[in-house]
Amino acid sequence: MTEQKSTNITWHEQNVTTEDIQKLHGHKGATVWFTGLSGCGKSTLANAVAAMLHEMKISTYVLDGDNVRHGLNKNLGFSAEDREENIRRIGEVAKLFTEAAIINLTAFISPYKVDRDNARALQPDTFIEVFCDAGLEVCEQRDLKGLYKKARAGEIKGFTGIDDPYEEPENAEIVVDTGKLSIEDSMKIVMDELKKRGFIG
Ligand code: ADX
Repeated sequence: MTEQKSTNITWHEQNVTTEDIQKLHGHKGATVWFTGLSGCGKSTLANAVAAMLHEMKISTYVLDGDNVRHGLNKNLGFSAEDREENIRRIGEVAKLFTEAAIINLTAFISPYKVDRDNARALQPDTFIEVFCDAGLEVCEQRDLKGLYKKARAGEIKGFTGIDDPYEEPENAEIVVDTGKLSIEDSMKIVMDELKKRGFIG
């Protein structure tokens, strides 16, 4: 648990409530949490699903690991401690987006089960975990950013899947074999589940 350092703070209720925003948007918010190795297709799938939802006039926002690390989380590296803080912050941000009645899609490796579970615990009824299970071999062969090659050469230390752990989800709502399936088929699996769970009509 992260220590509460601030004192003398008071919670303020908002005049415009989550319910008000839900009415305005015509739907509730939710977090679709994509997890998996670097290069497994999390961002691609999250963005494809977001585009499809947007077409359906649903408010969406993608929170992407590489992007968020350019701003909000630019002071974090890849130690276990920093990855934990990375995911803690995104869990909180995702919750805010859900409260703003936006379907938010997060694309972070999020390698540790406990950190993903903590993010889930912030909004248990509106959290859908999607394990993008492409397998290390496929991700390494793709090596879109050339990072696996660097990690194998020892130029990057502590690279997930090479010399840093990835704890596979055991109870993810959705598992997609992003190594084998087309983007269309992967999207359909996610969309069907969102429909089944009543997040979209
Ligand atoms: S997480 O582990 O803290 O969830 P996050 O998703 O934010 O990671 O960032 C992962 C991205 O950072 C990777 O896709 C890759 O581009 C880059 N990266 C740089 N160094 C590492 C590393 N040591 N391990 C994994 N990814 C890294």
